[in-house]
Order: sequence, then structure tokens, then C-alpha cells
Amino acid sequence: MKKRIAICPGSFDCITMGHLDIITRAALMFDEIIVVAMNNAEKHYTFSPEERIEMIKKSTAGIKNVTVELFDGLLADYAAKKNACAIIKGLRAMSDFEYEFQMALTNKKLNPAVETLFLTTSAQNMYLSSSMVKQIASLGGDISDFVPPVILGDILKKLSPKSQNL
Ligand code: PNS
Repeated sequence: MKKRIAICPGSFDCITMGHLDIITRAALMFDEIIVVAMNNAEKHYTFSPEERIEMIKKSTAGIKNVTVELFDGLLADYAAKKNACAIIKGLRAMSDFEYEFQMALTNKKLNPAVETLFLTTSAQNMYLSSSMVKQIASLGGDISDFVPPVILGDILKKLSPKSQNL
């Protein structure tokens, strides 16, 4: 039978517990999940593409059917290239909805063979975002509940005021 492949795309600058929760739940529903770090033209990135995928790889190392890639181009083209049947996105508050809905419709137009599926965020991650994590870390706050433990050191090394003063 044909493998059911889904893509979890995002900026992942940096991956958070919210992303990891969505990836873990998606991995239970598909044969293979490809987590792909992409470029969002509206964002300036803190971490390099290599740093972003390295952190995703470390965070997802325990999930058997997850692979991690980097791609610079259209998500709809990437999904076609990978024979994916679905794009998985996490939805937090209503504020995510309009933007995500617009992207889902655009991707459907560009590649009618792929469906976008939204997973509801877990309640504890409702207000969690990469930018919030980076802001807290750069001001010396505790981010240990917000990011996978294996990448905590990588984030603090780059952002914590203590490591900036070394
Ligand atoms: O984590 P983000 O920043 O919300 O992820 C957005 C991302 C990277 C998935 C989106 O910007 C994207 O799909 N970029 C790839 C380029 C593309 O296909 N643009 C058209 C989308 S409608």
C-alpha cells in the first residue's frame, strides 16, 4: 500500500514544545512525517537554517517516522516532490486562523493533490511562540518549560544575556 506522507512545515526559529507536540501527534496518524524548515518572507531569523534543522533533529530524534529537511522554495512544490498527501499545521488562538486559512487555500490552488490539516494546539501551548521564547531567553528568563530539554543549551548559548557577557 502507498505510504501516507505528511509534511510539517514552519520557520522553527526555534522549535518549541508546541511544535513538538504537533509533530508527535501527526506522527501517530501518518506513515512518515517530514518536518521541513522553510523561509517565511515576513520574518527575520535569529538562528541559521543549519541551526534550525539541527535543533529540530535533536528534538525529534525519539520519533521513528520523522525526518527533517531544509527547503527554500514553494511549499506546494515541495509537497508534490515528496508525494505528500497532507500539510499539517498547528492552530493556536483565533489570531492564527486568517493567516493559516489564506496559506491553506493558496497551497490548495497551487497543488490540489495536497490537503492542509489543522491540529488544535494543546491547552498549555496556546500562547507559546518562538518569538516569545526568544524574548524571554534574551532577557534572562526561564524557558525550560517551553522548549525541548535537548535544545535548551543551544538557545541559551545564543541568546542568554549571561553567555553574551562571557
Ligand atoms: O512557522 P511559520 O513562519 O508560520 O511558517 C510559515 C511557512 C514557512 C510554512 C510559510 O511561510 C511557507 O510555506 N513558506 C514557503 C514559501 C511558500 O510556499 N509561500 C506560499 C505559502 S501560501
